[in-house]
Amino acid sequence: MNRPLLIGPFAQLLPMTRLPLKGALKDEQLPIIENGGILVSDGKILKVGVFDALKSSDVDIHYIEGKQVCLPGFVDSHTHICFGGTRARDYAYRNAGKTYLEIAKAGGGIWDTVTQTRKASQDKLVEGIVYRSQKHLKNGVTTIEVKSGYGLSVNEELKMLRAIKKANETSNATLVPTCLAAHMKPKDWNQDKDYLDVIIKELFPIIKKENLANRVDAFVEESAFSPEEIKPYFQKAKEMGFDITVHADQFTTGGSQVAVDFDAVSADHLEASTEKEIQLLAKSNTIATALPGASLGLGCDYTPARKILDAGGALSIASDHNPGSAPMGDLLTQASILGTFEKLSNTEVLAGITYRAAAALRLADRGKLEAGAVADFVVFPTDNYQEITYRQGQLKPSAVWKNGTPIH
Ligand code: NIG
Ligand code: FE
Repeated sequence: MNRPLLIGPFAQLLPMTRLPLKGALKDEQLPIIENGGILVSDGKILKVGVFDALKSSDVDIHYIEGKQVCLPGFVDSHTHICFGGTRARDYAYRNAGKTYLEIAKAGGGIWDTVTQTRKASQDKLVEGIVYRSQKHLKNGVTTIEVKSGYGLSVNEELKMLRAIKKANETSNATLVPTCLAAHMKPKDWNQDKDYLDVIIKELFPIIKKENLANRVDAFVEESAFSPEEIKPYFQKAKEMGFDITVHADQFTTGGSQVAVDFDAVSADHLEASTEKEIQLLAKSNTIATALPGASLGLGCDYTPARKILDAGGALSIASDHNPGSAPMGDLLTQASILGTFEKLSNTEVLAGITYRAAAALRLADRGKLEAGAVADFVVFPTDNYQEITYRQGQLKPSAVWKNGTPIH
C-alpha cells in the first residue's frame, strides 16, 4: 500500500452518504462536513472527515487553496456518445415546426445517425467517444454510461461496443457500456429472419464472450418496439444475466410497465408517464431516470420528477447526450434546469447525478464519498454548495480527481 494522501481542507465537503435511495429529499437532510478532508490510497477512499482530525505523520498532504466545495464525481447514467455525423438539420426542422414523420421522411431521425455511424470506422468512433467523455470529465462527470444503438446489425452493433471498450482504455472517465440493439427496427432489414431473434442468437453471445457489456436496453415506443415485441429480447437478455434498462414512456406509455415486469435497473425518459406509471415505478426497484437534455433538445415536457420523488420513487438525472434529441450534453446545466422547472431541492438534484445515478448503473462503489469508494471527486470554487445549481452549470469545477489523482 502506498502512503495515504490527505486532500483538503474543503470549505464544504458533501459526502452524499446517509441519504435514502428512494423518495423526496430536503436540503436539511444533506450532510455537510465543514473544513473537510479525504484520505486516499491506491485510488480508493480510506476515510472522509474533518481535515484537521485526519492529519497525522503517516500521511502526505495535498493542500487545497482557497474556498472550495467537494462532491463525489458526477455519474451520467444514460448517454449515446458513440455516434457519427450530426443532426443539426433535424434541430432546425423541429424548430420550424416539422413533425417527427416529416423529419424522418426528409432523411432525418435515428436512422440518419445509423447511416452516418455505419460510415464511420471503429477508430473514428473511439475518437468521438474519447473527445466527448473528456469534455464531460472536465465538467465533473467521472463515470459515463454509453449505449450502442446506431449500428442496428450484428456487425455494426459490435463495432460500436468494441469502440466503447477501446475508448474506455484511453479516456480518463470510466465508461459503462450498454447494448441498445433494439433502438429501432432497421429500415434495411428485409431478410426472412426476425431482427430481434438474430440479435438474441448472434449478438448477445458475442457480447458475453468478448465482455462488451453487462446491460441491455430497448426503445419501447410506437415508432420502435411495442411492449409485446420486446418481451423475447428482454427475456433472453435476463436469462443470460444482463441488467435491463428501458427507454420508456417518452412519447406514449407502456415502457415503464415493461421495465417493472423485467425488474429493470432503470426506466428512462418518462416524459409521458401518468399517475399510474409514477405509482408503478415508485413501488418498484426500478430507478426512474429523467433526461432533461431530451426535453430541451425536443422542446417537450420534462419528466415528472417532483411527482416521482413525492410518490417515493428513486430519481436519477442523466444527459441522454446524443446527436438527435439531446445534442447539448451538459449534465450539470440540465440537472439544474430540471430542478427549477420541477421544484427539486438541491439535494434531490445532486443525488440524481451522484449516488442515485450510480445505483441506476448498479455501481455501489461511487456516487458517495466514503471509505471503500473509488476516489473520484469534483471540486467547485465556492464556499457554498448552493452556488453549484444556482449557476446552472456555469460554475465550472476547479479540479476533478479520478481514482485519487487530479486529472483536471
Ligand atoms: O434517448 N428515444 C430514443 N433514443 C434517443 C434518441 C436518439 C436519437 O434521436 O438519435 C433518446 O432520446
Ligand atoms: Fe436515450
